[in-house]
Amino acid sequence: MSGFGPTEARAAADAIRASLALGDEMPVVAIVLGSGLGGLARRIGGSKAMPFADIPGFPIATVQGHAGTLVWGTLGGRVVIALAGRFHLYEGHSAALSGYAIRVVHALGARTLIVSNAAGGVRRTFEPGDLMVIEDHLNLMGRSPLIGPENVGEARFPDMSEPYDRGLIRTLRAVALAQGISLREGTYAGLLGPTYETRAEVRMLDRLGADAVGMSTVPEVLVARALQMRVLGISCITNLACGLSPHALSHSDVLETTTRVAQDFERLIEGFIAQQSD
Ligand code: HPA
Repeated sequence: MSGFGPTEARAAADAIRASLALGDEMPVVAIVLGSGLGGLARRIGGSKAMPFADIPGFPIATVQGHAGTLVWGTLGGRVVIALAGRFHLYEGHSAALSGYAIRVVHALGARTLIVSNAAGGVRRTFEPGDLMVIEDHLNLMGRSPLIGPENVGEARFPDMSEPYDRGLIRTLRAVALAQGISLREGTYAGLLGPTYETRAEVRMLDRLGADAVGMSTVPEVLVARALQMRVLGISCITNLACGLSPHALSHSDVLETTTRVAQDFERLIEGFIAQQSD
Protein backbone atom coordinates (compact mmCIF):
# COMPACT_ATOMS: atom_id res chain seq x y z
CA MET A 1 0.00 0.00 0.00
CA SER A 2 1.07 3.55 -0.69
CA GLY A 3 -0.16 4.81 2.69
CA PHE A 4 -2.38 7.25 0.82
CA GLY A 5 -5.41 5.06 0.20
CA PRO A 6 -9.06 5.29 1.25
CA THR A 7 -8.41 3.83 4.73
CA GLU A 8 -5.85 6.53 5.55
CA ALA A 9 -8.11 9.16 3.97
CA ARG A 10 -11.03 8.13 6.21
CA ALA A 11 -8.81 8.38 9.29
CA ALA A 12 -7.63 11.85 8.17
CA ALA A 13 -11.25 12.92 7.56
CA ASP A 14 -12.21 11.77 11.07
CA ALA A 15 -9.28 13.75 12.52
CA ILE A 16 -10.36 16.87 10.59
CA ARG A 17 -14.01 16.48 11.70
CA ALA A 18 -12.95 16.14 15.32
CA SER A 19 -10.39 18.94 15.26
CA LEU A 20 -12.74 21.47 13.58
CA ALA A 21 -15.82 20.24 15.48
CA LEU A 22 -17.74 19.77 12.22
CA GLY A 23 -20.40 17.45 13.63
CA ASP A 24 -22.26 15.84 10.75
CA GLU A 25 -22.21 18.92 8.48
CA MET A 26 -21.58 17.87 4.85
CA PRO A 27 -19.72 19.88 2.21
CA VAL A 28 -21.38 20.48 -1.16
CA VAL A 29 -18.16 21.22 -3.03
CA ALA A 30 -14.41 20.87 -2.46
CA ILE A 31 -12.06 23.35 -4.15
CA VAL A 32 -8.34 23.07 -4.78
CA LEU A 33 -6.85 26.56 -5.07
CA GLY A 34 -3.90 26.92 -7.43
CA SER A 35 -0.81 29.13 -7.25
CA GLY A 36 -1.78 32.68 -6.35
CA LEU A 37 -5.50 31.82 -6.22
CA GLY A 38 -5.65 31.08 -2.47
CA GLY A 39 -7.33 34.45 -1.80
CA LEU A 40 -10.70 32.79 -2.40
CA ALA A 41 -10.34 31.23 1.05
CA ARG A 42 -10.77 34.73 2.56
CA ARG A 43 -14.31 34.87 1.11
CA ILE A 44 -15.36 31.78 3.01
CA GLY A 45 -17.78 32.69 5.80
CA GLY A 46 -17.66 31.21 9.31
CA SER A 47 -14.40 29.61 8.34
CA LYS A 48 -12.53 27.03 10.33
CA ALA A 49 -8.99 26.29 9.20
CA MET A 50 -6.55 23.48 9.71
CA PRO A 51 -2.90 23.70 8.58
CA PHE A 52 -1.90 20.87 6.25
CA ALA A 53 0.88 20.00 8.70
CA ASP A 54 -1.78 18.95 11.25
CA ILE A 55 -3.66 16.65 8.85
CA PRO A 56 -2.56 13.00 9.11
CA GLY A 57 -0.55 12.10 6.00
CA PHE A 58 -0.18 15.66 4.66
CA PRO A 59 3.35 17.05 4.46
CA ILE A 60 3.90 20.82 4.49
CA ALA A 61 3.34 22.65 1.16
CA THR A 62 6.54 24.38 0.07
CA VAL A 63 5.69 26.56 -2.93
CA GLN A 64 5.42 30.33 -2.69
CA GLY A 65 1.76 31.30 -3.20
CA HIS A 66 0.46 28.14 -1.52
CA ALA A 67 -0.57 28.57 2.09
CA GLY A 68 -1.04 24.88 2.84
CA THR A 69 -4.33 25.20 4.73
CA LEU A 70 -7.66 23.38 4.66
CA VAL A 71 -10.52 25.84 5.13
CA TRP A 72 -14.10 24.80 5.93
CA GLY A 73 -17.03 27.22 5.81
CA THR A 74 -19.72 28.69 3.54
CA LEU A 75 -19.35 30.25 0.12
CA GLY A 76 -22.24 31.22 -2.14
CA GLY A 77 -24.56 29.95 0.61
CA ARG A 78 -23.14 26.40 0.47
CA VAL A 79 -20.82 24.47 2.75
CA VAL A 80 -17.41 24.11 1.09
CA ILE A 81 -13.94 22.77 1.78
CA ALA A 82 -11.08 24.72 0.23
CA LEU A 83 -7.56 23.39 -0.02
CA ALA A 84 -5.28 26.40 -0.23
CA GLY A 85 -2.23 24.52 -1.46
CA ARG A 86 -1.59 21.20 -3.12
CA PHE A 87 1.12 18.57 -3.49
CA HIS A 88 3.05 18.84 -6.73
CA LEU A 89 5.10 16.03 -8.20
CA TYR A 90 7.96 18.48 -8.81
CA GLU A 91 8.27 18.97 -5.04
CA GLY A 92 9.32 15.32 -4.92
CA HIS A 93 5.90 14.11 -3.81
CA SER A 94 4.54 10.88 -5.20
CA ALA A 95 1.52 10.90 -7.49
CA ALA A 96 -0.23 8.91 -4.73
CA LEU A 97 0.20 11.79 -2.25
CA SER A 98 -0.79 14.28 -4.92
CA GLY A 99 -4.16 12.53 -5.23
CA TYR A 100 -4.53 11.75 -1.51
CA ALA A 101 -6.04 15.15 -0.66
CA ILE A 102 -8.91 14.29 -2.99
CA ARG A 103 -9.55 11.01 -1.18
CA VAL A 104 -9.66 13.03 2.06
CA VAL A 105 -12.22 15.57 0.80
CA HIS A 106 -14.27 12.70 -0.62
CA ALA A 107 -14.14 10.97 2.78
CA LEU A 108 -15.38 14.27 4.28
CA GLY A 109 -18.42 13.97 2.02
CA ALA A 110 -17.59 16.14 -1.05
CA ARG A 111 -18.97 14.73 -4.31
CA THR A 112 -18.16 17.71 -6.54
CA LEU A 113 -14.58 18.91 -6.99
CA ILE A 114 -13.32 22.19 -8.41
CA VAL A 115 -9.65 22.21 -9.35
CA SER A 116 -7.89 25.44 -10.26
CA ASN A 117 -4.39 26.21 -11.42
CA ALA A 118 -2.06 28.74 -12.96
CA ALA A 119 -1.12 27.72 -16.50
CA GLY A 120 0.80 28.88 -19.54
CA GLY A 121 -1.24 29.63 -22.65
CA VAL A 122 -0.36 27.40 -25.61
CA ARG A 123 -3.21 28.43 -27.89
CA ARG A 124 -2.04 31.49 -29.77
CA THR A 125 -5.18 33.52 -29.20
CA PHE A 126 -4.92 33.23 -25.40
CA GLU A 127 -3.72 36.18 -23.35
CA PRO A 128 -2.31 36.44 -19.84
CA GLY A 129 -5.21 36.99 -17.47
CA ASP A 130 -7.64 34.75 -19.41
CA LEU A 131 -9.67 32.23 -17.45
CA MET A 132 -10.09 28.85 -19.16
CA VAL A 133 -12.53 26.15 -18.18
CA ILE A 134 -10.79 22.81 -18.66
CA GLU A 135 -12.66 20.67 -21.16
CA ASP A 136 -10.15 17.79 -21.27
CA HIS A 137 -6.56 17.04 -20.33
CA LEU A 138 -3.39 15.36 -21.51
CA ASN A 139 -1.55 13.44 -18.80
CA LEU A 140 2.07 13.99 -19.84
CA MET A 141 3.41 13.44 -16.32
CA GLY A 142 4.14 9.77 -16.93
CA ARG A 143 2.65 9.04 -13.49
CA SER A 144 -0.71 8.12 -12.04
CA PRO A 145 -1.91 8.19 -8.43
CA LEU A 146 -4.03 5.13 -9.23
CA ILE A 147 -1.04 2.82 -9.73
CA GLY A 148 -1.11 0.11 -7.07
CA PRO A 149 -3.56 -2.34 -5.61
CA GLU A 150 -7.24 -1.84 -6.37
CA ASN A 151 -9.01 0.27 -3.74
CA VAL A 152 -12.47 -0.63 -2.48
CA GLY A 153 -14.97 1.99 -3.66
CA GLU A 154 -12.76 3.18 -6.52
CA ALA A 155 -12.92 2.19 -10.18
CA ARG A 156 -9.99 0.01 -11.26
CA PHE A 157 -10.17 1.29 -14.84
CA PRO A 158 -11.89 4.70 -14.64
CA ASP A 159 -13.61 5.86 -17.79
CA MET A 160 -12.01 9.10 -19.00
CA SER A 161 -14.33 10.02 -21.86
CA GLU A 162 -15.63 12.98 -19.84
CA PRO A 163 -13.25 13.73 -16.96
CA TYR A 164 -14.62 17.27 -16.68
CA ASP A 165 -18.38 17.26 -16.18
CA ARG A 166 -20.37 18.71 -19.12
CA GLY A 167 -23.20 19.93 -16.88
CA LEU A 168 -20.81 21.77 -14.55
CA ILE A 169 -19.09 23.39 -17.53
CA ARG A 170 -22.49 24.56 -18.80
CA THR A 171 -23.32 26.07 -15.40
CA LEU A 172 -19.96 27.83 -15.23
CA ARG A 173 -20.45 29.29 -18.72
CA ALA A 174 -23.87 30.62 -17.72
CA VAL A 175 -22.48 32.18 -14.53
CA ALA A 176 -19.60 33.77 -16.46
CA LEU A 177 -22.01 35.20 -19.01
CA ALA A 178 -24.27 36.63 -16.31
CA GLN A 179 -21.27 38.19 -14.56
CA GLY A 180 -19.71 39.59 -17.75
CA ILE A 181 -16.55 37.51 -17.30
CA SER A 182 -15.13 36.10 -20.52
CA LEU A 183 -14.31 32.43 -20.33
CA ARG A 184 -12.07 30.38 -22.61
CA GLU A 185 -12.37 26.63 -22.93
CA GLY A 186 -9.67 24.10 -23.75
CA THR A 187 -7.39 21.17 -23.05
CA TYR A 188 -4.89 21.33 -20.18
CA ALA A 189 -1.58 19.49 -20.55
CA GLY A 190 -0.09 18.38 -17.22
CA LEU A 191 3.72 18.11 -17.21
CA LEU A 192 6.09 17.17 -14.38
CA GLY A 193 8.00 20.46 -14.22
CA PRO A 194 9.64 22.15 -12.40
CA THR A 195 11.28 23.67 -15.48
CA TYR A 196 9.01 25.67 -17.69
CA GLU A 197 8.79 24.17 -21.16
CA THR A 198 11.27 24.65 -23.97
CA ARG A 199 10.11 26.28 -27.20
CA ALA A 200 10.23 22.88 -28.90
CA GLU A 201 8.07 21.36 -26.15
CA VAL A 202 5.51 24.13 -26.56
CA ARG A 203 5.40 23.47 -30.34
CA MET A 204 4.86 19.79 -29.53
CA LEU A 205 2.06 20.59 -27.05
CA ASP A 206 0.39 22.77 -29.65
CA ARG A 207 0.48 19.91 -32.16
CA LEU A 208 -0.86 17.48 -29.55
CA GLY A 209 -3.93 19.66 -29.09
CA ALA A 210 -3.06 21.35 -25.77
CA ASP A 211 -4.40 24.84 -25.14
CA ALA A 212 -2.73 25.39 -21.77
CA VAL A 213 0.16 23.82 -19.86
CA GLY A 214 0.86 23.42 -16.17
CA MET A 215 2.40 21.21 -13.51
CA SER A 216 -0.56 20.08 -11.41
CA THR A 217 -4.24 19.11 -11.40
CA VAL A 218 -4.14 15.91 -13.47
CA PRO A 219 -3.34 13.51 -10.57
CA GLU A 220 -6.15 15.06 -8.51
CA VAL A 221 -8.63 14.64 -11.34
CA LEU A 222 -7.64 11.00 -11.86
CA VAL A 223 -8.42 10.18 -8.22
CA ALA A 224 -11.65 12.18 -8.35
CA ARG A 225 -12.79 10.22 -11.39
CA ALA A 226 -11.88 6.89 -9.78
CA LEU A 227 -14.19 8.02 -6.94
CA GLN A 228 -16.85 9.11 -9.46
CA MET A 229 -16.77 12.71 -8.27
CA ARG A 230 -18.01 15.39 -10.67
CA VAL A 231 -15.10 17.63 -11.63
CA LEU A 232 -14.85 21.22 -12.80
CA GLY A 233 -11.41 22.60 -13.73
CA ILE A 234 -10.35 26.21 -14.23
CA SER A 235 -6.98 27.46 -15.43
CA CYS A 236 -5.83 31.00 -14.93
CA ILE A 237 -3.65 31.69 -17.98
CA THR A 238 -0.83 33.59 -16.31
CA ASN A 239 1.55 33.86 -19.24
CA LEU A 240 2.03 32.82 -22.82
CA ALA A 241 3.97 29.56 -22.94
CA CYS A 242 7.65 29.66 -23.82
CA GLY A 243 8.40 30.84 -27.35
CA LEU A 244 5.03 32.60 -27.70
CA SER A 245 6.13 35.58 -25.66
CA PRO A 246 9.30 37.69 -25.92
CA HIS A 247 9.93 37.40 -22.16
CA ALA A 248 11.56 34.68 -20.09
CA LEU A 249 9.14 33.10 -17.60
CA SER A 250 9.27 33.55 -13.86
CA HIS A 251 7.10 32.39 -10.96
CA SER A 252 6.73 35.98 -9.74
CA ASP A 253 5.13 36.93 -13.11
CA VAL A 254 2.75 34.01 -12.67
CA LEU A 255 1.72 35.25 -9.21
CA GLU A 256 1.39 38.84 -10.47
CA THR A 257 -1.16 37.76 -13.10
CA THR A 258 -3.16 35.63 -10.66
CA THR A 259 -3.35 38.63 -8.32
CA ARG A 260 -4.74 40.73 -11.19
CA VAL A 261 -7.38 38.14 -12.12
CA ALA A 262 -8.16 36.92 -8.60
CA GLN A 263 -11.31 39.00 -8.20
CA ASP A 264 -12.94 37.68 -11.38
CA PHE A 265 -11.88 34.15 -10.49
CA GLU A 266 -13.35 34.45 -6.99
CA ARG A 267 -16.65 35.94 -8.19
CA LEU A 268 -16.94 33.24 -10.82
CA ILE A 269 -16.37 30.39 -8.37
CA GLU A 270 -18.68 31.90 -5.77
CA GLY A 271 -21.42 32.36 -8.38
CA PHE A 272 -20.92 28.79 -9.57
CA ILE A 273 -21.14 27.35 -6.06
CA ALA A 274 -24.34 29.28 -5.41
CA GLN A 275 -25.85 27.28 -8.31
CA GLN A 276 -25.02 23.90 -6.73
CA SER A 277 -27.74 22.14 -4.79
CA ASP A 278 -27.07 20.61 -1.37
N1 HPA B 1 4.22 26.29 -17.97
C1 HPA B 1 3.98 25.39 -16.99
N2 HPA B 1 3.37 25.70 -15.86
C2 HPA B 1 2.95 26.95 -15.70
C3 HPA B 1 3.17 27.95 -16.68
C4 HPA B 1 3.83 27.58 -17.89
O1 HPA B 1 4.06 28.39 -18.81
N3 HPA B 1 2.63 29.10 -16.21
C5 HPA B 1 2.10 28.81 -14.99
N4 HPA B 1 2.30 27.52 -14.67
